[in-house]
Amino acid sequence: MIKNIPPMGWNTWNTFAENINEELVLTSADVLVSSGLKDAGYEYIVVDDCWALRERDIEGRLVPDPAKFPHGMKYVADAIHAKGLKFGMYSCCGNMTCAQYPSSFNREFIDAETFSGWGVDFLKYDYCFKPISADGKNLYRRMGLALANCGRDILFSGCSWGSDNTHEWIGTTGANMWRSTGDIVDTWDSVKELIQKQYDILPYGGVGCFNDMDMLIVGMHGKGHVGLKGCTEEEYKLHFAAWCMLASPLMIGCDIRSMDGATKAILTNKMLIGIQQDARGNRPFLFKLWGNDALPIIVRYLENGDIALGLFNLTDGKAHLWVTADDLGVPEIAGRMLAGTEAYSGREVRSENGVIMATLDAHACEVYRLKVVKK
Ligand code: GLA
Repeated sequence: MIKNIPPMGWNTWNTFAENINEELVLTSADVLVSSGLKDAGYEYIVVDDCWALRERDIEGRLVPDPAKFPHGMKYVADAIHAKGLKFGMYSCCGNMTCAQYPSSFNREFIDAETFSGWGVDFLKYDYCFKPISADGKNLYRRMGLALANCGRDILFSGCSWGSDNTHEWIGTTGANMWRSTGDIVDTWDSVKELIQKQYDILPYGGVGCFNDMDMLIVGMHGKGHVGLKGCTEEEYKLHFAAWCMLASPLMIGCDIRSMDGATKAILTNKMLIGIQQDARGNRPFLFKLWGNDALPIIVRYLENGDIALGLFNLTDGKAHLWVTADDLGVPEIAGRMLAGTEAYSGREVRSENGVIMATLDAHACEVYRLKVVKK
């Protein structure tokens, strides 16, 4: 059974694009385990676009490129499973994948059967080269049906970038997650834009079909396929915290074989991952925009009665924000207050006189996990 919480893993695309092969994938799987990322919750190793030959075989099946995957995909899947991890692959609903490899348009059932035979646990399904005359939601429903009938539990990861009002129909397709926006790149502007694009669609995420804000750029530092300028550590921290607060799937996109200590610390932040993986699955929501759309305050109510509160400063200057316990559901007169800790610093916080306040530097955030306690 696929767990009904947002998936976590590592994906080849952000750093490696077409430069992928068996050794890279299996070494990264080893590192996922040895570095502690697996223990932190990351379990899927996903091979994105560019894994196939440009032509199908005479039976019409997809064929892994033998120069990249000399032992085929079943071998890769078995090796990944032997490490206690799960294996993800990639296809597309159009005529070709985005990088112009064979795609699953009209071949949904045979491809689902092929993936199942190889032992695939996760399918990322793109939207490039979709014939204009074909209805996207129908193509996604077809693949959802093909996966549901392929004899294996395969998580369906939709990737239509929010096109054609994806949020209105994705929940009908069997997808477990859906890409709500275009591709991330390794810059602060991209992080900011992707967060701001979530405000209106937050009501469409959540249990059953998580809103995927795209793969993480934490730790890319300008290297790799989408590794443009890179971000500061503070910006990578805000990026990760926002994805966690908004319950986005967490798919690492950096080269974990060479990640530094700061990257690992961000990616394994226990409190943030606990919020993202919360089993109750309540929807996070935009509590308030503090005067402008670059100061979002996000709240999520958690399974054990705690409240996750995220204050984000996407502006280029300092910001002073506050939230009352009353507005979070804890009226002063109830004889209760809020007390907890901040996710990155571990600093203790409490509602003093019924108020939680923070001063945030440019591009900084604070996320608190708060308990309702007696005064
Ligand atoms: C699209 C997707 C990316 C990646 C590439 C592969 O752009 O949105 O995440 O999968 O295709 O070509």
